Amino acid sequence: MIEVTVPLGDRSYPVLVGDGARHELSSVLPTDIRRVAIVTQPGIGVTVDPGVTHEVFHIGDGEAQKSLTTVETLCSEFARWGLTRADCVVGVGGGLVTDVAGFAASLYHRGLPVVHVATTLLAHIDAAIGGKTGVNLAEGKNLVGTYWQPSAVLCDTEVLATLPPRELRGGLGELAKYHWLGGGRLDDLPLDERVAACVRIKAEVVASDEREGGRRAILNYGHTLAHAIETGGAYDLRHGEAVAIGLVFAAELAHRLGRIDADAVAEHRRVVAGYDLPGTLPAGLGDDELIERFGRDKKATRQLTFVLDGPAGVEVVTDVPEPAIREALAAVR
Ligand SMILES: NC(=O)c1ccc[n+]([C@@H]2O[C@H](COP(=O)([O-])OP(=O)(O)OC[C@H]3O[C@@H](n4cnc5c(N)ncnc54)[C@H](O)[C@@H]3O)[C@@H](O)[C@H]2O)c1
Repeated sequence: MIEVTVPLGDRSYPVLVGDGARHELSSVLPTDIRRVAIVTQPGIGVTVDPGVTHEVFHIGDGEAQKSLTTVETLCSEFARWGLTRADCVVGVGGGLVTDVAGFAASLYHRGLPVVHVATTLLAHIDAAIGGKTGVNLAEGKNLVGTYWQPSAVLCDTEVLATLPPRELRGGLGELAKYHWLGGGRLDDLPLDERVAACVRIKAEVVASDEREGGRRAILNYGHTLAHAIETGGAYDLRHGEAVAIGLVFAAELAHRLGRIDADAVAEHRRVVAGYDLPGTLPAGLGDDELIERFGRDKKATRQLTFVLDGPAGVEVVTDVPEPAIREALAAVR
């Protein structure tokens, strides 16, 4: 088992990565816990034993279930079961479950401890780490949420064996971005070390900027184009696949701004292709439409802002000229 600490002072917590990490649950629960409310989805099929009295609460599958209604139902079920502040919530699932379970835990009785047992690659390297929780509104994704750090996270690489291939590819898109956030040749590492390396990077970024005041924005490397593609609607892409296209685009853009050389662009294309991820835009998305969406991106505090690689590493770059954006878009068509 590889242990990584998310260093947040008296709210620091361990992340255990490895085959069978779920079996460590009882050892990472906060001490003096009486009971555990396990939040999961019926289709996941991962059982855990917290070693104390527990009850399983199911939530539905799919982004439409990531709602205030689901959180309200869950909290009502907690109340009927008699969950108290001496108890703990455990989220067993992918990012959807950890976002919902974390959000409910942060609200119920004004905040209960939560432990995540992450069961998708995306949750291992991203969603379960860092304390961002939330749900969607009809008006948009993740518009309501809290920062609520877990007490511990278990990233069980064994359970990835049952993950549908498409979900695994989605996680690989997020994993690819860590190559340029200090990860280097992550694809040379065995899976558990690769996951742990990503967790270490995310932990360090979260510790330096817990509430996304600045540096945490680098975790959105590749995401500006990804969000613009996803806002376009019915493209048959997992989020991570859209991020992969976004990474290649970001490299092409950084190259046009003189920030990285052609070899660095080629390395982006090599990594993305190596994970069997797409590096070209789906047909039907025009430049004007995409540029208009770039201006509306949630992370864009100023017009046409991107997270780009450069001599000082990946950073936020503002006021990117439109002609360079159009050239970079042409390079991913
Ligand atoms: N809080 C954050 O910092 C953060 C970061 C990134 C993403 N997210 C959120 O994460 C969500 C996406 O997470 P995801 O990609 O893990 O998808 P997901 O949680 O929707 O899971 C994908 C599918 O895989 C199934 N599944 C999960 N584990 C399984 C397993 N071991 N075996 C078989 N099936 C399994 C789920 O039931 C679901 O059908 C989004 O809602 C996104 O907004 C949050």
